[in-house]
Amino acid sequence: MNNQHFSYKKKLDEFWDFCIKNQYFNIGYPESADFDYSDLYRFFQFSINNCGNWDERSNYLLNTFKFEKDVLTYFTKIFQIPYEKAWGYVTHGGTEGNLFGIYLARELFPNGYLYYSEESHYSIVKIAKLLRIKAFQIPSLPTGEINIDILTQTIKQQQDISPIIFANIGSTMLGAVDNIIGIQNQLLQLGLKRDNFYIHADAALSGMILPFVDNPQPFTFTQGIDSISVSGHKMIGSPIPCGIVVAKKNNISTISEVVEYIASTDQTISGSRNGHTVLLIWKAIHHYSFNDWKKRINSCLEMAEYAINKFKSAGINAWRNTNSITVVFPKPTEKIWKKYGFAVSKQWAHLITTSHHNSKERLDIIINDVIQDLKNSPKELL
Ligand SMILES: Cc1ncc(COP(=O)(O)O)c(C=O)c1O
Repeated sequence: MNNQHFSYKKKLDEFWDFCIKNQYFNIGYPESADFDYSDLYRFFQFSINNCGNWDERSNYLLNTFKFEKDVLTYFTKIFQIPYEKAWGYVTHGGTEGNLFGIYLARELFPNGYLYYSEESHYSIVKIAKLLRIKAFQIPSLPTGEINIDILTQTIKQQQDISPIIFANIGSTMLGAVDNIIGIQNQLLQLGLKRDNFYIHADAALSGMILPFVDNPQPFTFTQGIDSISVSGHKMIGSPIPCGIVVAKKNNISTISEVVEYIASTDQTISGSRNGHTVLLIWKAIHHYSFNDWKKRINSCLEMAEYAINKFKSAGINAWRNTNSITVVFPKPTEKIWKKYGFAVSKQWAHLITTSHHNSKERLDIIINDVIQDLKNSPKELL
């Protein structure tokens, strides 16, 4: 073995050890890490590419279009839109799905402005820049939901006759779900017709929670959304970032282009698209039945409630939004939030009880450490 080969192997071995040690580091972020896709490893010897529209034949033969069709069929069901009225695709993540949704909206309403809440994911700011849409950040309520009164006033002041609403269905920091029924009612009262505004649902994490709970907040197409984006590596779990976006088929024609090079139409953001992640999502949704998903999500919600009770029993003001696995608590010192990788914003920190964070003993250790830290902090933080 020459030296070069030795250092190559050593580097990979070191990285392997690092990954093993840190594989469950992520209690502050919503990625699930309890997946097993080992039966799909064999497909990594092929250069699979899903460029173009999975609904048509492509000249690039090594694609997973058939699997992508199954994935979309599944998501049209759980997001409540008839399959024949929908189109969507497997994206490279939640951000691409958001970009796709707002791109469709901008093509539909080129003069409309974009409205999002102060709790929206940072991707929306760059999406507004990329698409050159004038955008307004709307304040949120203490729960993290968009303030509908201020939203309505702003739309009225702007005399916007085709507003584009970016609704949080599970906000990044607080797990808040914007009230899409309230938003629609207010816009109708302003005199807008339902066909004259657009609602994109950013459901990066909760898009794979709400379909499986008994009393979900409104988030579906039947309840008024026009498109929805969900991340694949969050609640579902995937070793490679990915996502799913679903929109109304009749809005797609504005962006669809015939491409001679691939002998297909293209209506996606990227050119080459990842065909392997399609297999991963396909496995996840077929391997687990609807009831398995319900159970999995219920366990995560129970762990979130366990964490809240643990904080509360020590007099710490921890809380979560309905149907959310995001446990919010007062921001501890930097030493502690860095130690556990908690996400922090303003006065809050959060932990997220995704499915691999299923050990009460481990949670107890983390929470006790936070409690101790907060008890040593000034009282007004509690
Ligand atoms: C609410 C929300 N939207 C969008 C995103 C972006 O998703 P992705 O990282 O898959 O691009 C996130 C990521 O944390 C998120 O929390």
